[in-house]
Amino acid sequence: MESNEKLNCADEKIKNEVCEMLKQFDNDKQHLITILNEVQEKYGYIPKVAQVEIANYLNIPLAEVYGVITFYSRFSLEPKGKYNISICLGTACFVKGSKELLERAKQKLGIEEGKTTEDGMFSLDTTRCVGACGLAPVFTVNNEVYGKATVKLLDEVIDNIKANL
Ligand code: FES
Repeated sequence: MESNEKLNCADEKIKNEVCEMLKQFDNDKQHLITILNEVQEKYGYIPKVAQVEIANYLNIPLAEVYGVITFYSRFSLEPKGKYNISICLGTACFVKGSKELLERAKQKLGIEEGKTTEDGMFSLDTTRCVGACGLAPVFTVNNEVYGKATVKLLDEVIDNIKANL
């Protein structure tokens, strides 16, 4: 972020909180993943302003922080929706057709993987095994697991959420 770029109040608040959090760690890059986990846990994603603070604190390029965030699917660059739909693409689910579920979810929600709908209600991502392989294929909505999933079930779950918004 350019130094003359203005931070809005929300960014300023995050910046201060992240600075405070960083004090718990030595400024050694071996702590990068742990720090990212904490930020992800607190905000539900890794805000840009946090990425900049982390890079400065650990004295590493911003691109390195960004690279780690995009490498691990548990980290997100955007806030998640109120309902995060996650399609399991682990081996057991993949061979049972979870790719089809992913395509359907993209189509039905009108967003790509890793994105959030404009109204902030839904986000879509993928995961690599949620430990329910016996129920493959599986998708989750927040922490709820739906097993033996079909396109029909996915449609029903999404429609049901929409009907109750
Ligand atoms: S591979 Fe999907 S739950 Fe294990």
